[in-house]
Amino acid sequence: TQHRIAVIPGDGIGREVVPAGLEALEATASRFGLGLEFDTFDFASAEYWQRHGTMLPSDWEETLRGYDAIYFGAVGWPEVVPDHVSLWGSLLQFRRTFDQYVNLRPCRLLPGVRGPLAGREPGDIDFIVVRENTEGEYSSIGGRIFEGTERETVLQETVMTRVGVDRVLRFAYEQAARRPKNHLTSATKSNGISITMPYWDERVAAMQGQFPGVRVDKFHIDALVANFVLHPDWFDVVVASNLFGDILSDLGPACTGTLGLAPSANINPERDHPSLFEPVHGSAPDIAGRGIANPVGQIWCGSMMLDHLGHPEAAAHLLGAIEDVLAYGPTEAPLTPDLQGKGTTAELGQAIADRVRTR
Ligand code: NAI
Ligand code: MG
Repeated sequence: TQHRIAVIPGDGIGREVVPAGLEALEATASRFGLGLEFDTFDFASAEYWQRHGTMLPSDWEETLRGYDAIYFGAVGWPEVVPDHVSLWGSLLQFRRTFDQYVNLRPCRLLPGVRGPLAGREPGDIDFIVVRENTEGEYSSIGGRIFEGTERETVLQETVMTRVGVDRVLRFAYEQAARRPKNHLTSATKSNGISITMPYWDERVAAMQGQFPGVRVDKFHIDALVANFVLHPDWFDVVVASNLFGDILSDLGPACTGTLGLAPSANINPERDHPSLFEPVHGSAPDIAGRGIANPVGQIWCGSMMLDHLGHPEAAAHLLGAIEDVLAYGPTEAPLTPDLQGKGTTAELGQAIADRVRTR
């Protein structure tokens, strides 16, 4: 075995799309002679919470630390456990404890997919959003004073550290350096937010000399969101603070079609801890149990995981298989209803795994 993977299906459609993802990963592994070993865990789910009153066992950290990566479905079942409990009790623990300080989301219009932006072809939209995942605007420093009086005041601080800013910028620069367009865009708002954002800009500029091949530009966040919609072809790698990155990393994939297609990765680039790969979507209680969830986001996450584990060719092959099957269209391939097809999760997963074997 080369890599041990912890599999956490979670709730709802997470349990339906994860098996499809594993099938595609297994097909890719055998095609490329990779030894992947999967262990599946039932925690981080509403069912586990019902049985144990917690989302995770007390030894979860030791358990997961032994793995090279975590392949995650979705967590959340609001009928049984409040969303803030399920999220803070599981996924956010993983991200923080394992210092997954990069949240990476590819935004790519795939062939055969009708995105919401009229007239866009695959190739017009092909960029990645790199979000800072541990500090910035999402700090817990602040509070309320004079509560209930006319002087009532609330305050919440943004925290940027040199280490925290530089490490996510370095990751983004390195991505830009290895992609064909060698272009990095930084999200800022240094006109209005006059202390932290100029610091962010300064660190972007300070690192530029180390990556002479990378073209760098910056946009204020308000202009940037407009340009995601108006000119998605302008972007290659987009790096942003926690809050701006949160917004961009939902908007970006939304410009490329259904939620069911979008993957994401929570990465610890130093590999001191396992990284976590999960689709952007949640547990989708409205369609769970019917076998019609789109497995592509989950399968694409598997491709990102292979890339992270050091197998770029296998990763590209798997993504190519996804693209081929989507390009066949809903009459030739068992595409799921969100892609105007009549296929099931299992059928689409099978078709992609088959394509991995034959392409
Ligand atoms: P959601 O992403 O589960 O669903 C939003 C809409 O998109 C629904 O109409 C759903 O049917 C559709 N959809 C989502 N994934 C799809 C797929 N693969 N194929 C076809 N259609 C798909 O978001 P929602 O409804 O706001 O949240 C449901 C639960 O999931 C909540 O408990 C929430 O906290 C949790 N959640 C978990 C996330 C995670 O595990 N990272 C992320 C987002 C939500
Ligand atoms: Mg979000």
